[in-house]
Amino acid sequence: MQGLSGRVVLGLAGFSMTPRDRKADLATIRAGIEAGAAILDTARAYAQVDNSLYGEELAAEAANGTDVIVGTKGGHSRINADTWDADISAGRIRDDVESSLRVFGREQLDLYYLHRVDLADQPVEEGVAALAALRDEGKLARIGLSNVTVSELERATAIAQVDAVQNRHTAMGREADDVVAWCEANQVAFFAYSPLRSSIPAPRLAAVAAERGATLQRLQLAALLHSSPVVSVISGATRPQTALDSIAAEREPWTAELQTAYEADLA
Ligand SMILES: NC(=O)c1ccc[n+]([C@@H]2O[C@H](COP(=O)([O-])OP(=O)(O)OC[C@H]3O[C@@H](n4cnc5c(N)ncnc54)[C@H](OP(=O)(O)O)[C@@H]3O)[C@@H](O)[C@H]2O)c1
Repeated sequence: MQGLSGRVVLGLAGFSMTPRDRKADLATIRAGIEAGAAILDTARAYAQVDNSLYGEELAAEAANGTDVIVGTKGGHSRINADTWDADISAGRIRDDVESSLRVFGREQLDLYYLHRVDLADQPVEEGVAALAALRDEGKLARIGLSNVTVSELERATAIAQVDAVQNRHTAMGREADDVVAWCEANQVAFFAYSPLRSSIPAPRLAAVAAERGATLQRLQLAALLHSSPVVSVISGATRPQTALDSIAAEREPWTAELQTAYEADLA
């Protein structure tokens, strides 16, 4: 878990949904790294319709020559414009890891997740055993699970140690509080995805943001970072301005006033 928690991670999913300008996407990610982002989050599924490896290629190019950690994911890929599959069978996970190793041009990947434990037909035990075998072979430094329940985590960790969990967890919805508590108890890093995608209003945090001249989004990311020592947030910013603002959440002073405002908005 060391070095993984309490960070703002740059998530690359937003770069895959529409046709993209590769140069502009790389410039955004590089600006984020320059501003202090130490982790990138990508996946085999973050593909362009005409390039099944776009998301991983962007991460590989941006991370090249830096000490940035890259988390990527397998067992879920884009079939066409609107369809993605989910398969965490041992054979599929091995094939996806081998593909990612080729894209990154490395012998070992930093962090590799089963992307959609919730959608796959196979039991979590099959996928996690496949990841653990690849870690034992030295092909994966750390392994993670995404879109999992506490009960699946209990089953998975009966088979192998898990280094990271990635679930949807918005600052205002706090959908994964039970999974975060499990991660705290088991000292596993938790990555909150889609942290800003809640329609629940935050009027008190917004008022403090206006007083400070900060964005509400930055304060919401900071609120999650301060909610637990195991939590990191994955920001899906796709523009330099929003990427830099999100990364600044790591340095945002967290005061008693902010904590009170956040708790009042959550209540
Ligand atoms: N494991 C999974 O199944 C899974 C699923 C979904 C997402 N994820 C990961 O989580 C990442 C984030 O997900 P997401 O894109 O849904 O989450 P998000 O960061 O909550 O939402 C992204 C949206 O928020 C805006 N935004 C980000 N930072 C901002 C800021 N400081 N100020 C104002 N607006 C800001 C972005 O705008 P701009 O685009 O204009 O910058 C974009 O419209 C993904 O990229 C991916 O890595 C994982």
